[in-house]
Amino acid sequence: MDSMSSARLCTPLITSTAATASQASTRRLFSTSRFHLGRQRSPPPCRASLPMTTFCTAAADPGSAASRLLSVGLPWHAEFMPRLPSGNGRISRLSAVVLGEALAAEENDLIFPSPEFSRDALVSSPEQYRKMYKRSIEDPAGFWSEIAAQFYWKKRWSPDVYSENIDVRKGPVKIEWFKGGITNICYNALDRNIEAGNGDKVALYWEGNEPGQDGQLTYAQLLDQVCQLANYLKHVGVSKGDAVVIYLPMLMELPIAMLACARIGAVHSVVFAGFSAESLAQRFIDCKPKVVICSNAVSRGAKVINLKAIVDNALAESANNGIAVDLCLVYENQSTMKKEDTKWQDGRDILWQEVVPQFPTKCPVEWVDAEDPLFLLYTSGSTGKPKGVLHTTGGYMVYTATTFKYAFDYKPSDVYWCTADCGWITGHSYVTYGPLLNGATVLVFEGAPSYPDPGRCWDIVDKYKVTLFYTAPTLVRALMREGDEYVTRYSRKSLRVLGSVGEPINPSAWRWFYNVVGDSRCPISDTWWQTETGGFLITPIPGAWPQKPGSATFPFFGVQPVIVDEKGNELEGECSGYLCIKNSWPGIFRSLYGDHERYETTYFKPFAGYYFSGDGCRRDKDGYHWLTGRVDDVINVSGHRIGTAEIESALVSHPHCAESAVVGVDHPVKGQGIYAFVTLVDGVDYTDEVRKSLILAVRTQIGAFAAPDKIHWAPGLPKTRSGKIMRRILRKIASKQLDELGDISTLAEPSVVNQLIEFTDR
Ligand code: WTA
Repeated sequence: MDSMSSARLCTPLITSTAATASQASTRRLFSTSRFHLGRQRSPPPCRASLPMTTFCTAAADPGSAASRLLSVGLPWHAEFMPRLPSGNGRISRLSAVVLGEALAAEENDLIFPSPEFSRDALVSSPEQYRKMYKRSIEDPAGFWSEIAAQFYWKKRWSPDVYSENIDVRKGPVKIEWFKGGITNICYNALDRNIEAGNGDKVALYWEGNEPGQDGQLTYAQLLDQVCQLANYLKHVGVSKGDAVVIYLPMLMELPIAMLACARIGAVHSVVFAGFSAESLAQRFIDCKPKVVICSNAVSRGAKVINLKAIVDNALAESANNGIAVDLCLVYENQSTMKKEDTKWQDGRDILWQEVVPQFPTKCPVEWVDAEDPLFLLYTSGSTGKPKGVLHTTGGYMVYTATTFKYAFDYKPSDVYWCTADCGWITGHSYVTYGPLLNGATVLVFEGAPSYPDPGRCWDIVDKYKVTLFYTAPTLVRALMREGDEYVTRYSRKSLRVLGSVGEPINPSAWRWFYNVVGDSRCPISDTWWQTETGGFLITPIPGAWPQKPGSATFPFFGVQPVIVDEKGNELEGECSGYLCIKNSWPGIFRSLYGDHERYETTYFKPFAGYYFSGDGCRRDKDGYHWLTGRVDDVINVSGHRIGTAEIESALVSHPHCAESAVVGVDHPVKGQGIYAFVTLVDGVDYTDEVRKSLILAVRTQIGAFAAPDKIHWAPGLPKTRSGKIMRRILRKIASKQLDELGDISTLAEPSVVNQLIEFTDR
């Protein structure tokens, strides 16, 4: 995959620097495993009792829950409220996202889990959380090694549970967890569960695009299929450290392919099957896969998408750039498109159904070091080039499994459905690895959630008796608009816990999700995390404490979030600022593939000594965290993360486009919409045709999900005298906040602002 490691990714530290694999593996930054000595702040003294009438207690007994809160020594952030939060100020992103609720009012609402829920929960009280949290911070090595010991290790890690340097001032950033431990995540997800007697338990249910299309695999059957594919991959020469790109829709074959790679130590890079040929080619060129695994087509609602044609174009583009991928394994998605109708290149294209079933259903495990790479997942940043986020094996395994278990209060009888696609991190950590490591039954859904009608999700919930339902606010809002009737016509009695991810969930969507979908009885785990973090960092633990609609609440075990000002000073108590983390946790990514320098610059240099998330956050008086959105040039559109620079570079590739500047604007369903200011080359008129072809350029370069919602013709852009585009002004124009333009006198040409305002609806 790079010249340094001769097409292998098995070095423990992937960098673009001159460090060799052996240097990297022998270099130790610290000789001791105990670095987390930070102590919690002591709780503020108890003063008054809570005014009970202000509690929103959907299905709870306020007396007992409140008195539990009051009677115990709570962690500072789960401290009872000497007075209820004042809601000082508003959270701009959150309150502006959809219906313009006053967030202040939301901060006054506490929603308690029912006493029955708490009683049966894994963490059933604030004091239990506090005890576990305290231990995880004071003794991370002990806390995490006890959990890790529940997994299978061929050889235990040694000598340290972890070592870290996240402070650029002290040297290169390097993080290792369970180094020296030898394991395999596929073995832990499948074989270990089968050996524990769960071979006949359903591992995967599959629901196709059309109602009535379905399938299932038990743990034993899943292992058989994983082994067959793993054997095939080995047969065609894939071995430990090789990259395999997976471009599959949500068929069971997608987790099967991920697990097969993991079984043989290959590094998978799943590309969301909504990305265009250009984006796919870009990823081929970066990670140089030995094989690409894809499907010929997918149906999304009434639409059929010819995925193989996209792959063909990407392979051609990649070959033109000197990176030829010689083998394309194609799964025939029979209900959508037959092989006969699929363009085929003999020699390169191989039909999955023809070859894979011929291989044995037993495949020995490739034992790997905890710090060997597990996968690369490309994600957007502030530049046009996507970043290859590199996760390793052991820490990721322990962290995804543990976060899944506690954030969803997992019980072995649960049926779990996450609507995310495995092309994004949520599908990696919380469709495939986290749930299967827990031996859970997971539903994989191929189709569109509002097809054939907006009741489809709840139809599926009833059909499979789904107990844990995890989705994105954009879907909640889209379904909310269709009216309650699509929900209430289904029973949904099986539901126990709901989950939200991808962007801040606005309080009104939270309430609808809670009251209508969950019948006011299911806690909502609003999980805050990122591709880079591997798993949840700030999340409710249902059963432990009351929730506030729209708040991700408190940190997960072992995570120390801090809010800093622009100078990097840690802020105390109620505050707003930049969200950083002051320690490593097992699931954190270890590098950006081929660019360790960018890893340090983007995440560890902005605030030295911390991991910088790129998100803004407010902590209220009670210590609850309210995520307020990205503070960089990354936007979240329908839960999909996109860099504005990527869209700009797609636009300027259009021959008529001279320059562009893209900003995010609040959108009632998508969370954020894409608003593009475009300057055309001299002599080109701005017509509807030009507008459409600009949008098409983005669809072809990135994918349909990145298409701008609005093109704003900009004969000139507001720039400083040094030529820097003033995005602040563009954001205000895009969101029509014209009285908040601020000082425009520093612009090289202040008159462009009025011109832009005038051109808004052209
Ligand atoms: C946003 C998705 C508020 C945030 C798992 C983050 C959230 C970015 C939440 C990462 C949440 C994710 N509340 N914001 N519960 N979850 N985000 O890498 O801005 O696709 O930085 O990972 O999504 O997006 P990514």
